[in-house]
Amino acid sequence: MTVGIDKIGFYTPQQYLDLIDLAHARQVNPNKYLIGIGQQQMAVADLDQDIVAMAANAAEEILTTADRQEIGLLIVATESGVDQSKAAALFVQELLHINNNIRALEIKEACYGATAGLQFAYDFVSLHPNQKALVIAADIARYGLQTAGEVTQGAGAVAMLVSQKPHILALEKESIYQSQNAGDFWRPNYSQQALARGKYSEELYLQMFTQIYQQADSLISKESLAALLFHIPFSKMGRKALQTLKTKISDVDYQRLLSRFEKSIIYGQTVGNIYTGSLYLSLLSLLENDDSLQDNERIALFSYGSGAVAELFFGHLQPHYRDYLNVTEHRQLLDERQRLSVAEYEAIFKKQLVTDGSCQLISPVRAAQHYLKKVDQHERFYQ
Ligand code: CAA
Repeated sequence: MTVGIDKIGFYTPQQYLDLIDLAHARQVNPNKYLIGIGQQQMAVADLDQDIVAMAANAAEEILTTADRQEIGLLIVATESGVDQSKAAALFVQELLHINNNIRALEIKEACYGATAGLQFAYDFVSLHPNQKALVIAADIARYGLQTAGEVTQGAGAVAMLVSQKPHILALEKESIYQSQNAGDFWRPNYSQQALARGKYSEELYLQMFTQIYQQADSLISKESLAALLFHIPFSKMGRKALQTLKTKISDVDYQRLLSRFEKSIIYGQTVGNIYTGSLYLSLLSLLENDDSLQDNERIALFSYGSGAVAELFFGHLQPHYRDYLNVTEHRQLLDERQRLSVAEYEAIFKKQLVTDGSCQLISPVRAAQHYLKKVDQHERFYQ
């Protein structure tokens, strides 16, 4: 039996900041952001698009009525949760009208959470082949105004429906993973901004990738790789990881992986870091922008979450997988976004929800099916 990703949905807020504008405002050479970091734009979430709203919007586009009945497990993976106790998945379940006979929960491990979710979904569907699992990665990356990490912010959600006989990517059972306690990136409960030892986080990412790649030698050599995808906090990070292979694999293999890598970063370069969704945005970007991939080809995915957990896993593209992608909708979503000035972005960044229990009504900034409409008595209410 094959189990894997049957459908992929995507949502990102309808506003973005151009990083050339940010560079000018921060008196930085724009090439540092465009080439040194490798990013062009970043999505900016207003108060109406928290991770619950984005998660629901990403999943809405892929679910049929039958899917909503067949889901037995709903996981929302996020670094940017809205409650210390209640799982974001419960709000999402109601918004999506998913049946009540499910397990709904939230997973946190920085940018690795969705990979844990996907692996749990794989196990769940393997045990319960008549049910499906919905895994949604949703995050708002916030480092703070005028910080080194500011240019690596972003917002968005990727939803993956996992089933037997999947239409897009059948996952392999074997993967290689590692965990270790590290202080490269973290966010205390009282902080709305992440704290990062930026250079150390890059080093650790590369170190864990190198170790895992070595450990995975026999899995990798089992069958050639059409593509190797990375967690992309900013595209230069993935490029650096890929470059570590330049002397380890043949030039033909390296050039193939490099050309696929270029396709995998197209969406992320305009959306920015969406933490735990970033690897899956790379997958979506590759599938929707590369015309050369063939059915049944094998791809590898490297997941990294600061703190730190990393995993390398594999999948096979399924016959006619292109028929199950929503390329037009996703390009339109990105093309129709509104460009913000730096002043507008800064004003949005500083907005806060009330914390005194009073009622705050929130108007949706631009049309989205789901949005946060109100907080009242410390509770969130969604449309
Ligand atoms: N033209 C071209 N390139 C230029 C340039 C110019 N004019 N000016 C500078 N650059 C290059 C630099 O040479 C450098 O390149 P290399 O990395 O190849 O050396 C690059 O631009 C970045 O410049 P700095 O070295 O000055 O770095 P910085 O102080 O601006 O910080 C950062 C960069 C560490 C990535 C910072 O943005 C950051 O802390 N980001 C958040 C942490 C992060 O994303 N870490 C990634 C690994 S952790 C992870 O993946 C999990 C997660 O999602 C958070």
